[in-house]
Amino acid sequence: MKTERFKASELKEASQKIQAGELVAFPTDTVYGLGADARSEAAVQKIFQAKNRPADRPLTILLADKKSIYSYAKKISPLAERLIDHFWPGPLTLVLEAKAGLAPSVTAGLKTVGMRMPAHPLALDFIRACGFPLATPSANLSGRPSPTTADHVLADLDGKIAGVIDGGATDLGIESTVLDLSQPKAPVILRPGGVSRQAIEEVIQRKVTAPLKNTFKDEKEGHYAPIVPIYMVKSNWPQALKKVKNKKFALLASEEVIQKYKKEAQASYSLGSKAEIKAAEKELFKGIRALEKADIELILAESYPENDATEAYLNRLEQAAKGKKI
Ligand code: TXA
Ligand code: MG
Repeated sequence: MKTERFKASELKEASQKIQAGELVAFPTDTVYGLGADARSEAAVQKIFQAKNRPADRPLTILLADKKSIYSYAKKISPLAERLIDHFWPGPLTLVLEAKAGLAPSVTAGLKTVGMRMPAHPLALDFIRACGFPLATPSANLSGRPSPTTADHVLADLDGKIAGVIDGGATDLGIESTVLDLSQPKAPVILRPGGVSRQAIEEVIQRKVTAPLKNTFKDEKEGHYAPIVPIYMVKSNWPQALKKVKNKKFALLASEEVIQKYKKEAQASYSLGSKAEIKAAEKELFKGIRALEKADIELILAESYPENDATEAYLNRLEQAAKGKKI
């Protein structure tokens, strides 16, 4: 299949592909997503095939407005409404009990469905042009870092999807927070992301259960697996560098660390100033994909101190490193 590259001005052409049951990738506020008609089982099945995604991993749907949630979810509690008011459009996916009407494999057999309204004008215009909600996972091959540019999408999915809308690099660079609200008395974060746990707790005035720590036992579950092994460096860079001195390695680290040690590395990619965790989130997946192209045996990646603001960054880096520390 030839994968077309659509411009932002070609949403109509791109939406016709979706209406014909094909897959089109497009930018959102977080990362690029791979869209399909969420009501069509045949279209949704194509997502699992193109991404090589395990059939038991449910998809989330993207909505063009807040009120659409009432068409696809049951029992929307006042607490859910408060979160929607506060964080939509934006990087918060809410998991709620599903109504009928979605293709069965969207929910992978679960009774719940994840939904969000992205804060990206092009994404919203595109969903509106399609005329129905889109089942939209990140537009990468299963197990690869999420794409933050149209080129990343094509690196993974060229020839496997009908098209990609090129809207430039995404703003946030890391996926949304997934919050399970199907038990409104006990909200649980399933995946940390663009909205922090503290920010959610402040809005709902209630404690939220943190995501489970990764265990890295099951290879199939290991997302963001890079081609080159990644090691997390806590803080002792001189010691880490000593351990890899006979290997070809790259640095994926804050500007401060790069400036200090780049001469010793074969390649380096800056995550921006150490004080700006949002910059590191934005650059993490892009940096991994860029460094994989260098002639290196491993990547040393900076592990920021653990706190509310760094939870999502550390979650993704731990998965990419499969827990390896040096
Ligand atoms: O920012 C994002 O969320 C991006 C953009 C494209 O919107 N999408 C994204 O989708 O990251 P995906 O499919 O790569 O990740 C969605 C996560 C998966 O870990 C999936 O298992 C979980 O949400 N999920 C989806 N539906 C669920 C459900 N009903 N219950 C529990 N987890 C669910
Ligand atoms: Mg994904």
